[in-house]
Parts: sequence; C-alpha cells; structure tokens
Amino acid sequence: MKPNILVTREVFDETLAYLSQHCEVEANQQDMAFSPDALVQRLAGKDGVMCSLTDRIDAGLLSACPQIRAVANIAVGYNNIDLAACTARGVMATNTPGVLDDSTADLAWALMLATARRMTEVEGRIRAGEWTGWKLKQWLGVDVHHATLGIIGMGRIGQVIAKRAMGFDMKVIYSNRKRVAPDIEQRLNATYVSRDELLKQADFVVLQVPYSPETHHLIGAAELKAMKPTAILINSTRGGVVDDAALIAALTNGTLRGAGLDVFENEPKLNPGFLQLKNVVLTPHIGSSTEATRRAMAMTAAKNLVAALTGGTPPNLLNPEVTK
Ligand code: DGY
Repeated sequence: MKPNILVTREVFDETLAYLSQHCEVEANQQDMAFSPDALVQRLAGKDGVMCSLTDRIDAGLLSACPQIRAVANIAVGYNNIDLAACTARGVMATNTPGVLDDSTADLAWALMLATARRMTEVEGRIRAGEWTGWKLKQWLGVDVHHATLGIIGMGRIGQVIAKRAMGFDMKVIYSNRKRVAPDIEQRLNATYVSRDELLKQADFVVLQVPYSPETHHLIGAAELKAMKPTAILINSTRGGVVDDAALIAALTNGTLRGAGLDVFENEPKLNPGFLQLKNVVLTPHIGSSTEATRRAMAMTAAKNLVAALTGGTPPNLLNPEVTK
C-alpha cells in the first residue's frame, strides 16, 4: 500500500507527478494557507507531510498526529520545525540544502548593489517624473567594488556570496561559530575576524546565519551602533535575526547608511516604519525564488519524503539519530 501524504501548499506539476508515483497524495494546489487546527485535521491518517516555512510543525501537532513518520520542508531553513520534537517521536525531518545556494547568494548581491546605488529610490523618482536631466551630484551612491564585505555566517551560502566578491575586488572578512578550513579561506580570500571586529570594519554586513533562539536579534541596537555610519546591512536569511525596530531607528537617525532586506520579523506583516524610509531596498522573501531553483527545491523535498516513507534514508535527513 502506498503511504498517505499531505502537500501543504501549491507545488509544481512534476513534483506532484513524482509524489503520486509513490504515495497517495492530498495536494493543495489552491495554495490556501492552513491554520494550525486545519493542518492537524488535514494530517489525520497521513504518514508524511511536505510542508513549507509557513507551516509550524511542533510538538502539539506531532502528538495530535501520531501516525506521521516524516516531515519534508521545502526550504533549507527549518526554524518552522521543532526538530527535537520530531526526534523524540522518531519522525524524520528533512530540508533542501545546496540547490538554492547560488540563487540565494545572487539575491544577497542584488540587494547589496541595489542599496548601494539607491536603485529602488531612483527608479521611483523616474516613474514619478522627477528626472529632469543629468547632474554631477545627482543621487550619489557608494561603491561596492574595493569595499570591505563582512559576512556573518560562513556556511554554504555565505561562501558563495564571498566567491562573488572576488569579481568586485572586495576585501572579505567573516565571522562564524567555527572558523572554516584554511583551504576554503584561501580559495575565497576571506579573513576570519570576531563579530565585533567585523561590525567595526565592514562597509557591507551580510547576514547568513540560520534563525534560532541563539541568533534572535543577533543584530540589535548595540550591534548597529558598532557598525560604520556609512555601512549597509543586508538580511536575506531570516526575519528575527535583526531587531527590525532598532534597524528602523538607525536608518531614520542616520547612524546607518542603508539596508537591503528580503526577510522581516513577523513577515508578511512588515513594520510600517520600513515603508517610510528611502534608504532601504525591500523584497518579499524571494531569495531562492527563481523558476529553476524553486523547482529543484520542491523535487528535493519530494525525494526526501518518498525515501523516508519507503524504507530509504532521505538524502537530507536532519535527525539521523531516528534511523538508529
Ligand atoms: C529557505 O530555503 O530557507 C528559504 O528562505 C526559502 O526561500
């Protein structure tokens, strides 16, 4: 008998076709976001779930749905899943690392360049008919090339961001829980520094740490104050890593030049303060959102789920201890 699964949000046709070969699938191609209670109801009798970062998979849900054996997140970040609760119940949990590194790094770079060169601000001015001609001192930005890039979180995506910095002749410094191997530092021409030192030196601070209780408000008022007033902050990792209210205050009072943001606390409800600011570039959590990458993420999650429910070991198992 095929295992029963729920796919909580809309996915691509080929993802559903693959899943249907191996599982009885309840899909949600209307893409209605389920409330926590509705999700529990939908999961009655299901062996597995393919979910997205908008679904909270916690101890309460798992105990209400004790037959669940596997949870496959369509995201690399998995702060929406209580991993300890999964492990305690022997539920396999998986994510989608690797396939989105390049696209996510590209978006961090797009935010860096757009913020440095004030692209959304000046585009708004063109659209408003305010451009009356070229002027020497018009809408001056700052250079990305030859500047110092500080990356906080030198995992896979952080390393891809650093690699792109070579083409811009940047000095790259990084901080990380653990220093990366010497050959990686050498290949990326990246220097390990303390977080305090990085905040002091960097012209661009790019955040690439996962969200967790330890990284909640990693960048708050004190850290923003430690940055150069000419610096630009880029957050395309997770809302909550930055204290948004503190960031708005710094951007408003000019103690920070600008910010490029793809993620927000309590998204999609933005702190309205951001909307008043000209020195921010805002995008709606689209870091991995290219056609090819989102297709690859969905298929990676599908393969993880099918492997977990058909006796295999999913390639991206987050809690291998459940298989022992
Ligand atoms: C992830 O994979 O964690 C991204 O934030 C989803 O776009």
